[in-house]
Amino acid sequence: MSNDIEEPTGLRSGLTNYGDEEFALFLRKAFIKGAGYTDDALDRRIIGIVDTSSGYNPCHGNSASLIEAVKRGILLCGALPITFPIISLHESFAYPTSMYLRNLMSMDAEEMIRAQPMDAVVLIGGCDKTVPAELMGAISANVPAIQLVVGPMLTGSHGGVRVGACTDCRRFWARYRAGEVDIEELGRVNNELVPGAGTCGVMGTASTMACIAEALGISPLGSATPPAVSSARLRVAEQTGKLAVAIGEKLIRPLDILKKENFENAITVLQALGGSTNAIVHILAIAGRVPGINLTLDDIDRIGRKTPLLVDLKPSGENYMEDFHNAGGLPVLLRELRSLLHLNALTITGRTLGEELDTYPPSHKQLIIRPLADPLFPSSALAVLRGNLAPNGAVIKQSAATKGLLSHIGPAVVFSSALDLANRIDSEDLEVSPDNVLVLQNIGSVGAPGMPEAGLIPIPKKLARQGVKDMVRISDRRMSGTAAGTVVLHVAPESAIGGPLAVVRDGDLISIDVESRSLNIRIDPSELQRRLHVWEIAQNGKRKRERGYAGLYKTAVLGAELGADFDFLTAGE
Ligand code: FES
Ligand code: MG
Repeated sequence: MSNDIEEPTGLRSGLTNYGDEEFALFLRKAFIKGAGYTDDALDRRIIGIVDTSSGYNPCHGNSASLIEAVKRGILLCGALPITFPIISLHESFAYPTSMYLRNLMSMDAEEMIRAQPMDAVVLIGGCDKTVPAELMGAISANVPAIQLVVGPMLTGSHGGVRVGACTDCRRFWARYRAGEVDIEELGRVNNELVPGAGTCGVMGTASTMACIAEALGISPLGSATPPAVSSARLRVAEQTGKLAVAIGEKLIRPLDILKKENFENAITVLQALGGSTNAIVHILAIAGRVPGINLTLDDIDRIGRKTPLLVDLKPSGENYMEDFHNAGGLPVLLRELRSLLHLNALTITGRTLGEELDTYPPSHKQLIIRPLADPLFPSSALAVLRGNLAPNGAVIKQSAATKGLLSHIGPAVVFSSALDLANRIDSEDLEVSPDNVLVLQNIGSVGAPGMPEAGLIPIPKKLARQGVKDMVRISDRRMSGTAAGTVVLHVAPESAIGGPLAVVRDGDLISIDVESRSLNIRIDPSELQRRLHVWEIAQNGKRKRERGYAGLYKTAVLGAELGADFDFLTAGE
């Protein structure tokens, strides 16, 4: 699918929108001189810098210093940096969900990169949805673009033990629910969970997407892990500025770099990291913006089967992003994975991944990134399940699940919505045992909308008090990348559009077997068909016109198995 807007030939910074080109240039110069620029400054390549700082986005709290360092890199190469704002999304301050707004942010990025004169653009992002949104937009604009992440936050300390957002946020909350931690201690740990600027310090969605950007080759090697508040992060920013000038000069655009091999490398890294399940949705959405790339859930599962989990980070393992960085970061992992990667994939420098790895400084002995021969988990940290409960697929992070629950049959306890869940999950009257399978409906892209990250259905309080830590939980929601448990997510098709999840009832036997990748509801096929038919009839006339972005979202959003992009934004064949 092409854009009907004519692309300029020659320098993008010479882009005009009047019939009389010379007059247009005359006008633009007049206005930009109004900002204090001389002719000398303007007679250069222009490098745009996306500024996603916001009072509502503490994760991007280091943006100002990063922008200064990027500008320095650009100026050192004789080009002119110009910053511009786009939407900023923070996980905790974007209602109803940041996912709901990811595609809007991608449209903002795409259109502002295309609209404004720039020869290349530096995409500064970090908090979960910002990196995929920027990449989706930049690919669709196809202007030379380089990703710079803000970097992970450092850890805090509670009672002499390191803590970090947000695996430990969930851990302490679960302990509070179970009565193991009192409200005073909860307050004290709250002060330490987010000790400063940067993205969550575990292998959550933000860290995963930072590593994926590096694995895709759209950000420099070694750039994903330096902490947000380190000098190393500032040097990465300066280097990114320099590289942005180079890709502007050589006209290296996202579509010149991003081929199927790059995406397969990204999936290999995702699996080896035991990364966030959200990243599956984002990788599919980013690939969906590249014409002709047919990436599916089957690619995620296929690559997972031959990729071991090597990185010992929470929530799959024990450590934090600063440990991963001190161990050498992604280049060390990529070297370990060499035999599983496409080394001929192009990167932002114009050199291949193999060439980049060959010249990267040697690493030292460390314990965080395991050798290929001694993995943390043998393969398929993230697995794709299918069956009559999820004909289009569902996702589980088995590396962060309870081993004994990966093959399980149990009767369903069904919650029909988030409200129903909130009303009943902690009720003493809820009939539930550890063997039950907790099912949550109507919480997918269309149902919620925006797939809230509450796929981690809490353990019912009365079981939590008995010491139950995990149960099989199934929904069409997403889960935070920082969470752990035997949680089946992204069930597709989702219940709000008539997926089989919609017709599960209390007491139905649900079987899950991750080894055989199956997820089924054990009822007669004719009974399942009958229930789906009744559901369909009940929907008649229920859909109302909705105004604004919500209306656009609900009519255009694709299923999670397709990346949850808008149908009109994907590249197609
Ligand atoms: Fe921003 Fe976790 S909330 S990265
Ligand atoms: Mg998150």
